[in-house]
Order: sequence, then C-alpha cells, then structure tokens
Amino acid sequence: MEGALHFNAYLRALLAARWCKPVLFVLCLLPLVQLVYGIVADTLGANPIEVFTRATGEWGLRLLLVTLLMTPLRRLTGLAQWIRLRRMLGLFAFFYVVVHFTSYLWLDQFFDWAEILADILKRPFITAGVVAFFMLLPLALTSSNAMMRRLGRNWKRLHRLAWLAPAVALLHFFWLVKADLLQPVLYTLLFVLLMLLRLPRRRSRPGAGRPA
Ligand code: HEM
Repeated sequence: MEGALHFNAYLRALLAARWCKPVLFVLCLLPLVQLVYGIVADTLGANPIEVFTRATGEWGLRLLLVTLLMTPLRRLTGLAQWIRLRRMLGLFAFFYVVVHFTSYLWLDQFFDWAEILADILKRPFITAGVVAFFMLLPLALTSSNAMMRRLGRNWKRLHRLAWLAPAVALLHFFWLVKADLLQPVLYTLLFVLLMLLRLPRRRSRPGAGRPA
C-alpha cells in the first residue's frame, strides 16, 4: 500500500516536471528522424518508399492508441496530469498520419490526382485510410483551447471521433495485409482493451444484494 502511494507521488512529480512535455515531444519526433536518416543514408532496404509509408502509418496508429490511453491512466492513477499530454500525443498522431498520407500522394502516386481518385474508389483499404484521415482532420483543427471553449459541449461530441478514427484505421490495416494478420489483430486487441478500460465502473450500491 505504501509502495503504491510512493509510486503515485513519484509519477505525479514526473508528470508535473517542466521537462516532461519537451522530452515527450522529442521522443515523438524520433521515429521520423530515424526514417529520414534511413532514406538519406540509404539503409531502408530495397523499397525505402514502402518502408517509409508503412512505418509512418504504423506510428500514426500507435500514437492514436497511446492518446486514447491517457484517460484510462488518469482514472487508474487518479492523476489529472496525464490529460496535459493528451493533446500533444493526438497532434503527433495526426502529424504522422499527414506524413503517411503525403508520402502516398507524393512518393507513391506523384500527385496524379485522377489516378489517386481512381485508387480511392477501387481499393477498399485506401478508401478506409482516407475516411480515417478525414475523421482526424476536424479533431486536429479543433484541438486548441479557444476552439474547445467555442464549441462547448459539441467539442466532446465531436471528439468521439477519436475512437471511430482508429477503428477505421484498423480496418484499413486489415484490408491491406493479405496473409499475416498478427499485427492488426494485436493492435485491435489493444484498442478493445482501451475501450474496456473506459467503460464506466459500476458503483456498488449500499444495500445491494440485501433481501428487499
Ligand atoms: C488515420 C489514418 C491512417 C492510419 C492510422 C494508417 C495506418 C496504416 C498502417 C498501420 C499501415 C500498415 C503498416 C504496416 O504494414 O506495418 C498502413 C499502410 C498503408 N497506408 Fe495507411 N493509414 C492511414 C491513412 C492512410 C491514407 C489516408 C492513405 C492514402 C490514401 C494510406 C495509405 C496507405 C498505404 C498505401 C499503405 C501500404 C503501404 C505499402 O504497403 O506500401 N493510409 N497505414
């Protein structure tokens, strides 16, 4: 019990530290730095564009899930400071998705808009990716405090998309892989776990179970 209290106090100090957000910022940038370095140094293998597109997509998905972890963490630890990190993580998730989308539009399709439109209509996994992207866009655009105030209760309603977008992104992943389903299955299990952690806890009513 005392150990748990110490751990919570330590965690609180860590999350409140001034360097916490800058460190997280740098950590979130590292995968991109590594990928760009890989392209420049030519260490990404025979198909660097594919590696780049896949890795940025996967980081987008990972960060979406990490963002969704913040509310359960607040609930489990009782520390409101997790929520301070949520916006930055969500914006980084969107940033990786934008890089992922751009790498498809640019490096894969060379901005051939007719070809891109045909691809969106023809390949369901691309359709799902675009749908997920357009679900995240309003969330990124309304992430500021000013927009939060302006939208009031509608802000919360709109931000339910933060749950729908990863679900559609998972569909995008399932439709893309043909044989090895292990990765999308693992991400889906994580997503389901996050949803379960969010379910409202049933309060034990005084007198429940007693005969009437
Ligand atoms: C929320 C939005 C999105 C997320 C989270 C996402 C995530 C992912 C993930 C996890 C992968 C598989 C990575 C792997 O195999 O390890 C992937 C692949 C891919 N995504 Fe997305 N994606 C999103 C949107 C898009 C959009 C808008 C496009 C383009 C229209 C797109 C195009 C692709 C392509 C082409 C691949 C396969 C790359 C290849 O095999 O060469 N994605 N994405």
